[in-house]
Amino acid sequence: MTLATTEEQLTGTAAVRFPAGFRWGAATASYQIEGAAADDGRTPSIWDTFARTPGKVFEGHSGDVACEHYFRYRDDVALMKRLGLGTYRFSVAWPRIKPDGSGPVNSRGLDFYDRLVDELLDKGIDPMVTLYHWDLPQVLEDRGGWTNRDTAYYLADLATATIARLGDRVRTWTTLNEPWCSAFLGYGSGVHAPGRQDPRATFEAVHHLMLGHGLAARALRAGGAREVSLTLNLTDVRPLTPADPHDQAAARLIDGLQNRLFLDPALRGRYPQDMLALFERFGAAGVIRSGDEALIAAPIDLLGVNYYQPALVRAQVGAHSGEAHPGSEGVEFVTQSAPVTAMDWPVDPTGLSDLLLRLAADYPGVPLMVTENGAAYTDVVEGDRVADDERIAYLDGHLRAAHAAIEGGADLRGYLAWSLLDNYEWGYGYGKRFGLVHVDYATQRRLPKDSAHWYAEVIGRNGLA
Ligand code: FCB
Repeated sequence: MTLATTEEQLTGTAAVRFPAGFRWGAATASYQIEGAAADDGRTPSIWDTFARTPGKVFEGHSGDVACEHYFRYRDDVALMKRLGLGTYRFSVAWPRIKPDGSGPVNSRGLDFYDRLVDELLDKGIDPMVTLYHWDLPQVLEDRGGWTNRDTAYYLADLATATIARLGDRVRTWTTLNEPWCSAFLGYGSGVHAPGRQDPRATFEAVHHLMLGHGLAARALRAGGAREVSLTLNLTDVRPLTPADPHDQAAARLIDGLQNRLFLDPALRGRYPQDMLALFERFGAAGVIRSGDEALIAAPIDLLGVNYYQPALVRAQVGAHSGEAHPGSEGVEFVTQSAPVTAMDWPVDPTGLSDLLLRLAADYPGVPLMVTENGAAYTDVVEGDRVADDERIAYLDGHLRAAHAAIEGGADLRGYLAWSLLDNYEWGYGYGKRFGLVHVDYATQRRLPKDSAHWYAEVIGRNGLA
């Protein structure tokens, strides 16, 4: 492959075909779409609590009702079928399946996922289950949440209970979604539930999440899982001045916190030295017990990559370390000169191709899947239409980047758009819309945006025109 081809692909002038068997789909998460917060024995999660804490979430929005997917799942699956999705990635709500976090299984909670899986299979859609997409039972947070080692073992118990019920029909299982967010936003900056701000707790949470991943991966394997995966939010971190050694060191540190801290234990069986130094510095090294790293390195069959934007950093004397990146004094995040989404996230698809190629080079042997990619924009409904050209351009650019990475040697097996539906965007409540399908929250009407129709065509031709 020549560089010229890559340029052409990224600027959107060439037709692009994906490999035969490429998996196309969309992703969601339980708390963001289900609603039914108190139905059939579900207990509160940390997000129910956080949403009710004044000042934490935009306009105090909660997931109490969300998209009512719990009741409308049949229509939503029919919609997926109309869009031609081959794979649907969703998460299970821990407080539905184990309302007290660690004890008996609530079969009524599992019944919902049982029905959903049957409905998906009936429509020819491959279900992909994530065990933990951030909705920890509040009762477990009351016992320390992810700072408590027991939580890792409870995640493995959740894995065992869930695969016992769904394992005859679900092929692909993911342990965690984005442990960086759970730890650094949940226990570091506090912008996510449970809203703690403590660097020591942050690193303790990192380790217990990763230990939970390893234990759950083993439990899934024991339960007969055919494909076990972990989904990380990985970031292509770039030094402002690539040749400047100080900027390089700044980028390396942020790469450590965002990427290597999770990739290395999962795929190489050890934390990176520079990250171990941060565990030490913040008094959290004691949580890493002998043998833990071997448990974390349980074999996986697929690495899920969630990608939205790259990061640009430089060394800057006196710069404070943000609470989401403890230990990063002297590193400044630089605003990028790129168009931004409604989240203010810069749009730069080259970050995705660079990231996928870097994973292929540094962590060879594990197949990759983009398990989330997409954009929020200020959508306008006009009659029966949402003309979301910007979202189409975003998806088109990132699919070209994904394809360029495949051409460059990355073993990329699939692409899942975030998200099927507009939904509860965590601290932004319902204020940000990432869906291919517009949701009118007053009536629960689903309206496929232009991007949904466009994506259906992409799937149909297994590529871009
Ligand atoms: C990811 C989350 C997902 C959604 C997107 C926009 O970090 O996994 O739930 O919020 O961002």
